[in-house]
Amino acid sequence: MRALIVLVVLMCATCRVAFCFVDGLLPNGNFELAPKPSDLNGTVVLKHTAIPEWETSGFVEYIKAGQKQGDMLLVVPEGAAAVRLGNEASIKQRMPVTKGMYYSLTFSAARTCAQEETLNVSVAPDFGVLPMQTLYSSNGWDSYSWAFQAEVPVAEIVIHNPGVSEDPACGPLIDSVAIRALYPPRLTKLNILKNGGFEEGPYIFPNTSWGVLIPPNIEDDHSPLPGWMVESLKAVKYLDSDHFSVPQGKRAIELVAGKESAIAQVARTIPGKTYDLFFAVGDASNSCEGSMIVEAFAGRDTIKVPYESKGKGGYKRAVLRFMATTTRTRVMFYSTFYTMRSDDFSSLCGPVVDDVKLLSLRIPRRM
Ligand SMILES: *[C@@H]1O[C@H](CO)[C@@H](O)[C@H](O)[C@H]1NC(C)=O
Ligand SMILES: *[C@@H]1O[C@H](CO)[C@@H](O)[C@H](O)[C@H]1NC(C)=O
Ligand SMILES: *[C@@H]1O[C@H](CO)[C@@H](O)[C@H](O)[C@H]1NC(C)=O
Repeated sequence: MRALIVLVVLMCATCRVAFCFVDGLLPNGNFELAPKPSDLNGTVVLKHTAIPEWETSGFVEYIKAGQKQGDMLLVVPEGAAAVRLGNEASIKQRMPVTKGMYYSLTFSAARTCAQEETLNVSVAPDFGVLPMQTLYSSNGWDSYSWAFQAEVPVAEIVIHNPGVSEDPACGPLIDSVAIRALYPPRLTKLNILKNGGFEEGPYIFPNTSWGVLIPPNIEDDHSPLPGWMVESLKAVKYLDSDHFSVPQGKRAIELVAGKESAIAQVARTIPGKTYDLFFAVGDASNSCEGSMIVEAFAGRDTIKVPYESKGKGGYKRAVLRFMATTTRTRVMFYSTFYTMRSDDFSSLCGPVVDDVKLLSLRIPRRM
């Protein structure tokens, strides 16, 4: 009897843990489970609970791949269905989480008619307003990430279109919503920067080949890229080695918007001590060609690293040696130039940064 209770408790504990830490699509996160035909009028969703697993509000449309809007063919990246959020519309789903843990959400979205669209992603009390005005992939879809810390055991995930456009049917398409638990990386003896290889970060859909955007104005305590901040106006792109050339490990960062796309981290340093900032600069093998320059900063010191990209992958290593002047040194990277992909001329791209290490220089002992 006692053994049975222990077993049941254990099973519940493991299934809860398994459920909470599973990385991937939310239930019906790709909207493949369709509303009943009686809950639709054309594409318009008539009931709040019509889309299985989701609750909607406002003007929400259920869009099938191949559908046309005017003369534009609507493409759906994953499976055959997506939703469109009209003015002030939202989709919502509750899911069990572990209080205190950090999670990142990844979703794919595409603009339709409105020029400037934003999405408000929230898990109360946190929210983030993600700009969608720039295109980074040629088919119009990009994946966005956003992170939150769970304050209650059930997260109410809301994606809301705050826009008020003249045509109520304008508004972004959403497909594939996924979640991933984040494990804040720790400092090691080998690196006084956290997550220097960018291995810890948001979920990347295995079937998408356009990476995930880390949106601008991200503070380090709620970053989908643990340890790093995106302080610039534009996003940086998170890449995986399944679809891109990556200098080290399985993940890296692409600086996609020139000086408007920067990542930074503040490290604890000892004034008067000399440090080396090591990093790799390359290209993602995504037809991003030309002369590139990555500028690295450590406090007031800086280095410009030129890189000639043929768009076919490859990288070089660089180092910035500096003497710390304060107890906190800000390390930052951006790309000097904007670059466009040579295969479509509409999507921004740029140099890749990876394998960032900050080490204090050991002064050889005097003989
Ligand atoms: C469906 O939409 C059409 C056109 O917008 C409207 O005339 C009709 O009343 C709607 N039907 C229902 C059941 O809401
Ligand atoms: C975003 O959504 C949250 C939660 O609904 C809300 O509190 C916040 O005011 C919204 N922010 C904007 C700018 O719309
Ligand atoms: C990803 O693509 C593969 C091959 O095209 C397909 O078999 C698989 O079902 C896709 N996975 C998802 C989650 O769509």
